[in-house]
Amino acid sequence: MITIAVCALIIIIGIIITYCYSIFYDVPFVPTPKPIVRRILKMAELKPDELLYDLGSGDGRVLIMATREFEAKCIGIELNLFRYALSNWRIKRMGLANQIKVIRSSFFEADLSQADVVFMYLLPSINEKLKPKLINELKKGARVITFSYIMNGWKADKFDDELKVYRYKI
Ligand SMILES: C[S@@+](CC[C@H](N)C(=O)[O-])C[C@H]1O[C@@H](n2cnc3c(N)ncnc32)[C@H](O)[C@@H]1O
Repeated sequence: MITIAVCALIIIIGIIITYCYSIFYDVPFVPTPKPIVRRILKMAELKPDELLYDLGSGDGRVLIMATREFEAKCIGIELNLFRYALSNWRIKRMGLANQIKVIRSSFFEADLSQADVVFMYLLPSINEKLKPKLINELKKGARVITFSYIMNGWKADKFDDELKVYRYKI
């Protein structure tokens, strides 16, 4: 009984520490609701074996749905140690480790040159900072999908203003 209580306490303290630590990250963790993830992936026209990147992949929900429902390959970039470890654990448990890789790093350091689709649920200032990287690294025809915030100055070729989902083609 005491062992369970101690384990629970350690987990709770770990979660609190990682949440406090998140304040110093570029973007806080707010997961995209799953029905919207599905809409996003449909709007991306994600095809089997295409490579999707989720910049700031959180609990891995976008990667998991993209693999299970769209048969894509996925790379998640996540800086937060707790969410990196949790998403990796979920992916392994679901038997998806061959199709999904989560990298613990900043998305500013990621190599995006192989991506077919890049998903971003970030902040306007971070979208702005990522623009030169996306333009320089992404191949022609790659799609960038943003949720909640637009890419200022870019023309979306598809969008859903109600859900705040925007797709841009490079
Ligand atoms: C708004 S959440 C989006 C989570 C997930 N993509 C989704 O849509 O459900 C943003 C995520 O970005 C992560 N993050 C913040 N700054 C980061 C950085 N510089 N590099 C990588 N990940 C970062 C946060 O830890 C958080 O999990």
